[in-house]
Amino acid sequence: MQETAKLELNGIPYELPVVTGTENEKGVDISRLKAQTGYITLDSGYANTGSCVSSITYIDGDQGILRYRGYDIADLCEKSTFMEVCYLLIYGELPSAGDFVSFKDKVLYHSLIHEDMKSFFTAYPGHAHPMAILSAMVCSLSVYHPELLQPDQGAGEKDETMAHLLSKVRVLAAFAYKRSVGEAFVYTKPELDYISNFMHMMFTTPVKLHQTDEVIRKALDVLMILHADHEQNCSTSTVRMVGSSKANLFAAISAGICALWGPLHGGANQAVIEMLEQIAADGGNCKKFMDKAKDKNDPFRLMGFGHRVYKNYDPRAQIIKKYCDQVLHHLGIDDPILEIAKGLEELALTDPYFIERKLYPNVDFYSGILYRAMKIPTNMFTVMFALGRLPGWIAHWKEMIDEAGALKIARPRQIYTGEPLRAYTPINQRAA
Ligand code: SDX
Repeated sequence: MQETAKLELNGIPYELPVVTGTENEKGVDISRLKAQTGYITLDSGYANTGSCVSSITYIDGDQGILRYRGYDIADLCEKSTFMEVCYLLIYGELPSAGDFVSFKDKVLYHSLIHEDMKSFFTAYPGHAHPMAILSAMVCSLSVYHPELLQPDQGAGEKDETMAHLLSKVRVLAAFAYKRSVGEAFVYTKPELDYISNFMHMMFTTPVKLHQTDEVIRKALDVLMILHADHEQNCSTSTVRMVGSSKANLFAAISAGICALWGPLHGGANQAVIEMLEQIAADGGNCKKFMDKAKDKNDPFRLMGFGHRVYKNYDPRAQIIKKYCDQVLHHLGIDDPILEIAKGLEELALTDPYFIERKLYPNVDFYSGILYRAMKIPTNMFTVMFALGRLPGWIAHWKEMIDEAGALKIARPRQIYTGEPLRAYTPINQRAA
């Protein structure tokens, strides 16, 4: 029996259909509310509003569950690879051995960017934030692939476009880093895997071939898996929003990178390290910063804490914290920042303010400590988040575009609270 929600407006009863998800999540379908009642709903920040149905990722914020296409995140981190998770998220199934080889070959094949683009990088000042460069360069890729811009692409063109982005965004990210340190750009090597190739492009120089230590390679592969998707977060919703106008995928991903940059979203991983360094410089006084975070008159927030969906420990933060201990031990690094992070977490998990608001460490709280240990500079942390999230953005774009005949441009409504109708006053009749 179809479940319905009953609504009464001005004495008139209405019945609205209820949509039930695979894990029994419930949503009231209001897609005909305005037509039926003249009313819209209002939900700033969309905390109570579902924008779509999706079969890509499932999050249970109360239980701290995260699954990609039904596979638990811990299982994928232990047994899969980032490249395989890219395929899973985009195509919905784990690849056969043959399909996986073809997929990896296609991604490797598209790793070259047009040589003209190298001059774009040198036009930026050395201090340019790599997120600014990355979003601009990703949109600029569309200039060199006019054959991939038509709005209604066939499956083949979509595969090509997606592979170009999966391959090239990693190259653009490494080139942005090389630009910032004034070193020559380094190209991919066909014999290296996706992660090793990225680290090769980042840290190889004409005088030293970088070889990625297996412990580091696995930790970075896991970090990428953990960031790969997270259902309708701010940047993924941005990619869907831009893609809904039939703008090309390069433009949609570029917009997603910009949304991710904010410190309330992916930019938090950079802000966490800057916060931890500030606490370290202040003598490691965690309690002082905890009190600041609770002071409503102080804009300071504990970066890397809290989440719109997780009201339990973010399962990704748990896995990253484990890798922090493992990698720092392996490298023989005793990073005081890690101890401060653990001290802050310990204080927060026993503080009534944080307990009442269910504020736990999120994906960004420990990730920066791993990136630091890998010698990745702080201003590249959110670029690393973008590299990880790229397959999720692509998967959501594809899911939306592939929805047979259902593509509707995203265009929310509003409740107007401005001035009522008024007559124009010529400037010489206006009060001084
Ligand atoms: C990501 O959506 C996703 O899935 C995102 C993400 C992904 O994978 O895509 O998981 C990645 O963006 C993780 C979040 C990274 N951002 C940060 O770490 C920034 C710090 N955290 C916040 O600013 C905040 O917690 C958000 C933005 C993450 C969530 O904000 P909400 O859901 O809008 O919650 P809110 O701002 O309404 O806060 C509720 C209460 C408020 O207090 P009261 O008004 O009830 O007294 O909790 C307080 C807030 O002041 N609060 C915090 C806090 N986070 C929330 N107080 C101090 N420090 C914090 N970090």
